Amino acid sequence: MSEFTPSSLTAHLPRVRLAHLPTPLEELKRLRQTLQDSPRLFIKRDDQTGLATGGNKARKLEFLVGHALQQGADTLITVGGAQSNHCRQTAAAAAQTGLGCVLILSGPPIPRTEWVGNLLLDDLLGAEIVWAGDRPRDEVLAETTRTLTAQGRRPYVIPVGGSVPIGAAGYVAAVEELAGQLAQRREHVDRIVVVSGSGGTHAGVLVGVKALGLDIQVEGMNNFAVAGIAARVGTLAAETAAYLGLAIALADGDVRVHEAAGPHAYGTITPAEREAIRLLARSEGILLDPIYTARAFAQMVAFIRAGVYDPQETLLFWHTGGAAGLFARAADLMAEAG
Ligand SMILES: Cc1ncc(COP(=O)(O)O)c(C=O)c1O
Repeated sequence: MSEFTPSSLTAHLPRVRLAHLPTPLEELKRLRQTLQDSPRLFIKRDDQTGLATGGNKARKLEFLVGHALQQGADTLITVGGAQSNHCRQTAAAAAQTGLGCVLILSGPPIPRTEWVGNLLLDDLLGAEIVWAGDRPRDEVLAETTRTLTAQGRRPYVIPVGGSVPIGAAGYVAAVEELAGQLAQRREHVDRIVVVSGSGGTHAGVLVGVKALGLDIQVEGMNNFAVAGIAARVGTLAAETAAYLGLAIALADGDVRVHEAAGPHAYGTITPAEREAIRLLARSEGILLDPIYTARAFAQMVAFIRAGVYDPQETLLFWHTGGAAGLFARAADLMAEAG
């Protein structure tokens, strides 16, 4: 297991080692050549955090599982879609720490022989699956938690995406890690682009940047997972700062969330996502996921092509993982294949 990177902002919190840290910081030189008038581009490889194929939830889970163990929990319980990366990493974190894991997944049951991608991994990792059917999954979460408690188990509830202050703390620590890498390489980035899904990653990055006084804009790319995401990120950032005892003030304009281009609902794969995945894969050998990072990356590329960013600046795309989901969307990814 990997070593912790030093973190002064979160050092007082309970934490377990789950992620491979620090994740690599790489420059996307070939991609930059492919795009005309592009800023310099870096990528922070949180697709390489480990925990059963990597992703951003590994950083959140270090603090969430740390808290769960401190509370004496014996089971992690959380919610998500059938292809939730968060659920898959929660199952892996439970396996690694000897806890049970119950996943409440939206929608009707999928026959076991059709389990692919993250859902297949959930089973391999030993998670118990409860299908929410047509009921609100938070209602099923509350009910299942009561049932587990009545059975004598000690469940620890992780809300969707782990996007609560304890989870977001993982991304405050992540910014310290990044700041250390940049300082060591005498580099500076002007802008961080990150997915805004349930908001915890974006909020944590924002708090980290503010707490360290870094001159970096943080831009969230909305993927329509949660309504009113900008307000949610603002609230969660304030709560995270308060939880960590950080006196930071968020100014108007600090919470920047862009609508992803195109009229697409959460989970829809359009030509923009298909092109983004192939562009990064074929120029740099790096895999995006089909839902979150593909949409965010596509939006960033669209902005670069439209000249929205000054070519003199340096951009960092924070890769939040999820490539396991590619294997569940082959038909959509091969449609109109380029
Ligand atoms: C691959 C990937 N990237 C980004 C996100 C969004 O992160 P957050 O929920 O912290 O906004 C998710 C959320 O599930 C994800 O699976």
